[in-house]
Amino acid sequence: MVQDASDDGLLRDAAIVVTDQMIEWVGPEADLPSGYAGLARQRHDGRLVTPALIDCHTHIVHGGNRAREFEMRLNGASYEEIARAGGGIVSTVTATRGATEAELLESALPRVDALIAQGVGLIEIKSGYGLDTETELKMLRVARALGQKRPIRVVTSFLGAHAVPGGADADNYIDSTCLPALEAAHAEGLVDAVDGFCEGIAFDTAQIARVFDKARALGLPVKLHAEQLSHIGGTALAAKYGALSADHVEYATNSDAAALAEAGTVAVLLPGAFYTIHETQAPPVQAFRDHGVPMAVATDWNPGSSPLGSVLVAMNMACTLFRMTPAEALAGTTRNAARALGLDDCGVIAPGMRADLAIWNVSDPAELSYGIGINPLHSRIFGGVA
Ligand code: NIG
Ligand code: FE
Repeated sequence: MVQDASDDGLLRDAAIVVTDQMIEWVGPEADLPSGYAGLARQRHDGRLVTPALIDCHTHIVHGGNRAREFEMRLNGASYEEIARAGGGIVSTVTATRGATEAELLESALPRVDALIAQGVGLIEIKSGYGLDTETELKMLRVARALGQKRPIRVVTSFLGAHAVPGGADADNYIDSTCLPALEAAHAEGLVDAVDGFCEGIAFDTAQIARVFDKARALGLPVKLHAEQLSHIGGTALAAKYGALSADHVEYATNSDAAALAEAGTVAVLLPGAFYTIHETQAPPVQAFRDHGVPMAVATDWNPGSSPLGSVLVAMNMACTLFRMTPAEALAGTTRNAARALGLDDCGVIAPGMRADLAIWNVSDPAELSYGIGINPLHSRIFGGVA
């Protein structure tokens, strides 16, 4: 069976023809054109085939871990309090600056392997734990290297506007460090998109707008961590700049949803962060539905707010915590995740798409979201190769 992502239905007794790296034909096996009869075949009777999953928001290149903060939160400290006390993102910055490129690569490879083992074929990886030119570029080089070392596609986001380095002035940091680092990273071909963290503990809309203006001048698409802990206008800003995605968006409003719909911006929901920081405000999923905002789901895998190494668990959480349907969760890690990355060659099973597929030991697509910590992957096809 093939999960035909062009709608939520299933194509039963289907055949998919793969030539080179591409899907050439898909349809009922009975209608398979005779010209394909001589091709080598794999049979997957009773198995579900979906597009390879896409994790469209991760921070998997980083040094250290923040298990201590996990304990602090269990004792009542909030994510925001920990960040304001000098923990949080800034503590991972220290560990990431102290790690060599080889060490960062070494520590990120098992994370990539864990995602591949769950049928993932494409990961977005952000910088943002450097906050200086040298370390931001180091992180992005490691991200690119991961895509060379493993059979997976990697796209990068420059996240220099992730946090204000200790002792720095936010405006001064943007102008004297973040924007030059972005230019340098872009000059090395390391940047596919530009991201920021628009929040009381990070940067305000005016500061993010300066980063977005630079991205625009460089011809790079933008996306934004917006309205995660409070409502300060990041979602509207993202929509105004025609962002690929607005991510987290727990505190987004109905009018934000309308703006995202108008701009064609994807809402990327990150239930792992919601869960980890004990958030209680869920994103306005019904408003997104009502306005026709495409919704994606991702792990946000990072050492602080979301040490979540499973796209499948993210899908489960999106359903249980945010009341998404299993079909929405699957669209969120395939079709809409591709869109959140500005890609139109993956995330659906259709002629002309890359042959990145996941084959599952399940018969009902809802089973992918229903299990918790169960991995029903049978096999993965990446670029036409099993
Ligand atoms: O997506 N919200 C900001 N950035 C990350 C958190 C990173 C961290 O805590 O290290 C996020 O949740
Ligand atoms: Fe994030």
